[in-house]
Amino acid sequence: MIRIFELKNIISIKDFERQDIEYILDEASKLEDVAKSREISEELKGKILGLMFFEPSTRTRMSFETSMKRLGGECIGFESSGSSSVSKGESIADTAKMFEGYSDALVIRHELEGVSKFISDIVDVPVINAGDGAGQHPTQTLLDLYTIKKEIGEIDNLKIALIGDLKYGRTVHSLSNALGLYKNVTIYLVSPPELKMPDEVLHDVNKTNITLKEATSIEEIIDDVDVLYVTRIQKERFGDIDEYLKIKGAYIINKKMLEGKDLIVMHPLPRIDEIDGDVDDTKYNKYFTQAANAVPVRMAILKTLIKNNPK
Ligand code: NCD
Repeated sequence: MIRIFELKNIISIKDFERQDIEYILDEASKLEDVAKSREISEELKGKILGLMFFEPSTRTRMSFETSMKRLGGECIGFESSGSSSVSKGESIADTAKMFEGYSDALVIRHELEGVSKFISDIVDVPVINAGDGAGQHPTQTLLDLYTIKKEIGEIDNLKIALIGDLKYGRTVHSLSNALGLYKNVTIYLVSPPELKMPDEVLHDVNKTNITLKEATSIEEIIDDVDVLYVTRIQKERFGDIDEYLKIKGAYIINKKMLEGKDLIVMHPLPRIDEIDGDVDDTKYNKYFTQAANAVPVRMAILKTLIKNNPK
């Protein structure tokens, strides 16, 4: 039996083997009909998912909620620290303990790295990390891989450019870790010097077979890649706003530069100005499909974790 059935928490994509990822991607493709046909199944009927979002979110929170509801379950939760008793001074640990009493699994987003791990150590229900500071965003990576596999056909042999805020962008950290499980992958790192990929991630990547290449402009790499994975400059993680303003708008993708190229454009969203609106109506735009893929993928994650870890 593959390891995914023993997995209780999803804290870091580094806890996954390739076969675990493949299991989730296969399950997701089986669930895509339910997701697309807007049906409701009964797989998680009677189960409750606790959504603890201390940091803003649109896609992640709403897709977890949609996924739980499509599986016949229900959700409770809050969408900012301000709307929970944390604003009255309650500790994260006490808040998590309350949620443990009310729900069958917890989804946590927090601005500090390590908070999901901390909570998973003090509660008995499965915990899913929905983004911890500049750390990890493992479920985003699973839907990114699902999108790549569906659009390109395979993840092995991938040539992908990670563009923008590689320092604070947690999606590119998790994605780089996961790609290390695949064969013959080349990652092109394209970022301003101030926002380079952190050493710890590079250290992990260097232990795998990934070929890493650095570039300073999109033009240098655009003819070589299958995927342009564009990210937002993470304004909220800058200590000094002037530093942000200097870098903002450093890399912008537009329709003209894509013409004649054989690639797709992905973005975890939200986008600010990194992808011009004129790309939206082209065949290159896979970022909205990617966001929609969150539902079957998160359905597969919830189904697997909650069924294998009954209360
Ligand atoms: C990302 C995140 O929160 O890390 N968004 C998402 O979950 N789809 C990316 C971002 O905020 O820039």
